[in-house]
Amino acid sequence: MAGKILRTKLCDMLGIEYPIVCAGMGPTLMGENTGSPVELAVAVSEAGGLGVLGGSGFTVDELQEAIREIKKSTGRPYGVDILLPSSLGISGDDLPSAVSELPLSEIVKTLPQPYQDWIKKVREEIGIPSVEIMVKLNTTTLHPKAAIRVCLEEKVPLFCAGLGNPGFMVQEAHANGVKVLGITGNSKNARRMAQSGIDLLVAQGYEGGGHTGRIGTMALLPVALDAAYPVPVLAAGGIGDGRGLAAALAMGCIGVWVGTRFLATNEGGALAVNKERILAATDEDTRVSKVFTGKTLRANYSKFHDLWDTSGLDALPFPVQVMVSSALMAGFIEANKADYIGGLAGQVSGLISEIKPAGRVVEEMVNEAVDILTRRLPENVVAR
Ligand SMILES: Cc1cc2nc3c(=O)[nH]c(=O)nc-3n(C[C@H](O)[C@H](O)[C@H](O)COP(=O)(O)O)c2cc1C
Repeated sequence: MAGKILRTKLCDMLGIEYPIVCAGMGPTLMGENTGSPVELAVAVSEAGGLGVLGGSGFTVDELQEAIREIKKSTGRPYGVDILLPSSLGISGDDLPSAVSELPLSEIVKTLPQPYQDWIKKVREEIGIPSVEIMVKLNTTTLHPKAAIRVCLEEKVPLFCAGLGNPGFMVQEAHANGVKVLGITGNSKNARRMAQSGIDLLVAQGYEGGGHTGRIGTMALLPVALDAAYPVPVLAAGGIGDGRGLAAALAMGCIGVWVGTRFLATNEGGALAVNKERILAATDEDTRVSKVFTGKTLRANYSKFHDLWDTSGLDALPFPVQVMVSSALMAGFIEANKADYIGGLAGQVSGLISEIKPAGRVVEEMVNEAVDILTRRLPENVVAR
């Protein structure tokens, strides 16, 4: 991208041109995706930002293949994101790996009876089939130690922990030339993660798509910056154009971690219906709910939220609740019940009106931010 220069410490740390990181967003597990996590990561890195591969949902072998595909497609730096469970002790790493997948219907039979009854009732009421899908048991989320090993073997430039504190792996990562990034939604964890030795921290506000905390980005950033100091911070949650980028840099962040805006691109890996939802959405059209994963998660609003809210059930723990939501979402997709289909997306959806190449998103964000930061303060501001 010729012309504009926008450099921060992040560019020096990662060897990139612009302080824009594409958030790790795992593959959509059901239905036909447009784009893919690999394509998106490559496109953003090629455009001068840093593409991060969303590795949740991949098996450990698929993760390795995806990393190798990125390396073949671009010589530029990239990152890999996986969801660490809050305690590695509960992971599937210690389970025998002989069974690598199970039919979803078999797993549903092991859920507590009220959840099975609810799934049956919704299927009957909405008129959706019970769709059989094979659930992978050797995913990176269930085998985080193996996934981390692959990342270190492949010497990925940046390892990102989408959940959990990656402090325990920093020493080994650094010995392999891998930098480590953690994500938080509050200042308490910002301090804790910074003290554990990570290289970079993402502070993600309530506005953000996917798993989210309770503090809005504007309130979170200053306290997270203070708590994490001297560990540098990237801003996340609600950033979709150069105004958001400029504001984050003005606050003291060294870059931005952008999810929803990059999902709604040609390369973003999502169902076509979810991209359409983002385009059609106003700023009010997302909801936070535990229905999808058992943790608070922001997605575009669908009638599935209403069904859950009136179910009288509490969410099961992550990732068991994923089986509850998958059992129904697969049926909604199969029966083309668009009103009930929804994917992860943030409040910034209200700002997004066009699917475009990810490279153009990078270019436009940089141009607008440079414009603001170099000469175009809004007309009603006087500062000397
Ligand atoms: C479709 C989608 C999938 C996501 N998947 C992940 C994930 O696998 N791991 C992760 O760390 N964060 C994930 N997130 C959260 C993003 O990393 C990021 O923090 C968030 O999107 C930032 O807010 P924004 O959507 O307003 O840009 C996801 C977000 C979206 C929209």
